[in-house]
Amino acid sequence: MKSTLSIDLGESISKIDPRIWGSFTEHLGRCVYEGIYQPNHPTSDQDGFRQDVIKAVKKLKVPLIRYPGGNFVSGYNWQDGIGPKDQRPTRLDLAWQSMETNQFGLHEFMKWCHKVNAEPDMAVNLGTRGVDEARSLVEYCNFPKGTYWSDLRRKNGANAPFNIKVWSVGNEMDGDWQIGHKTAYEYGRLVHETAKAMRLVDPKIELVACGSSAHQNKTFGAWENTVLNQAYDQVDYLSLHQYYDNFDDNLAEFLGKSVDFDRFITDVIAICDAVKAKKRSDKQINLAIDEWNVWYHSKAADEKQTPWQKAPHLLEDHYNFEDALLVGSLAITLLKHADRVKIGCLAQLINVIAPIMTNTTGDPSVWYQSIFYPFMQISNYGQGIALTPHQDVETYQTKDYEVPYTDSIATYNPTNHEVVIFIVNKAKRSMNFKLNTANMQLKQIVEATQFAGYGLHQTNEDQSMILKPLTDISIDNHQVNAYLQPLSWNMIRMSINE
Ligand code: AHR
Repeated sequence: MKSTLSIDLGESISKIDPRIWGSFTEHLGRCVYEGIYQPNHPTSDQDGFRQDVIKAVKKLKVPLIRYPGGNFVSGYNWQDGIGPKDQRPTRLDLAWQSMETNQFGLHEFMKWCHKVNAEPDMAVNLGTRGVDEARSLVEYCNFPKGTYWSDLRRKNGANAPFNIKVWSVGNEMDGDWQIGHKTAYEYGRLVHETAKAMRLVDPKIELVACGSSAHQNKTFGAWENTVLNQAYDQVDYLSLHQYYDNFDDNLAEFLGKSVDFDRFITDVIAICDAVKAKKRSDKQINLAIDEWNVWYHSKAADEKQTPWQKAPHLLEDHYNFEDALLVGSLAITLLKHADRVKIGCLAQLINVIAPIMTNTTGDPSVWYQSIFYPFMQISNYGQGIALTPHQDVETYQTKDYEVPYTDSIATYNPTNHEVVIFIVNKAKRSMNFKLNTANMQLKQIVEATQFAGYGLHQTNEDQSMILKPLTDISIDNHQVNAYLQPLSWNMIRMSINE
């Protein structure tokens, strides 16, 4: 089979906001406790942070991390997680039926973010709480000094304000599972008023309103429209969440889900712009895809968990090879919408539906899932400018969509004069891939790798899955030819003369 990608240095989608490669850590299962924080672990530093985990997180270069939830945030009192640890209350976490000790909270998270070189995306509780708690939290975090909340922050050890820029105003408020679930109108009004008060404390913050928690939700479309009608002027981003499963074990359908993801994004942009037109507004709402991933392997096991444990093994999907291919495709889809998708959070980061897993004791203390590899490559090298992809390849039909056999895109990084190509081959046959370029002269291949040759259901507990060199590749001034393995994720980095 053949696939051709044509790119022109003069034709781009947009500059890529590095925050598109963000992630998410929730007080859920073993993400925080036994993931980020485990004071008695041999690798832990003086703050109780696992340094093996910090090292792994740094490899993914995530620039932004959403916290503390997720469903958890809709029942959370942020004041429980500040002050002396021995005075913090233990509470029931109703969202995940777990025991929350609050030994890790706001200050610990900020310190940890600093250690992994990420900025926070702080979520506020609009489930059981509201305007007052949200504006107090902004004051606690961002006001310099001389008020009740800012002086309390100083007393708790942080003299300088945290200056948190990105805030998620609520979580999945469209879902009836959400504590304090609301109708679109109720949430729209509340987010408007909450955002207004938060901005009165700090006008520089950027606010994310909750969109739909899945493309398939009954309220999708109407939800976005109603929420934005109420809150358009007060927010900067609308979120969307999407997880995919393969319960039917149907590879073609599963790998075709990136087309659904693409459609979801396009649909949300259309709604944002329709409300913009209706309001005769000059302001553009961009997208924060602040939860995306594959999620299904752990669902049956989770149903058998006993409630009210501390750090239970929840949502511990062990990802296989086909999951890595879809995650690669979904990441390429984000780049295709780099003009409007400014924030993305792979959900989640450690232990809970995550690329990084920890063992509580023993060796290895940390292991990488299959999905770690495509995400690591695209987050490190999918930087700079997303070039418009003109792809020519055969398609196949799924239940809902016509799906191209490859997903491909190129990014141009002006800082190191590199063009990087990311390609997923979804076919069970090999692919003769050709790159045609215009307005650039290709110099040489800097790196060419493939993630290929594994069983579809193979997982990576034994760390045997690795990136391999892509050797069947040739380059001349304006063209690259490569032979791609059946079912493969590929990355080709090239230096160029402009
Ligand atoms: O990431 C796991 C959960 O998925 C989050 O808590 C929630 O926002 C979503 O439903």
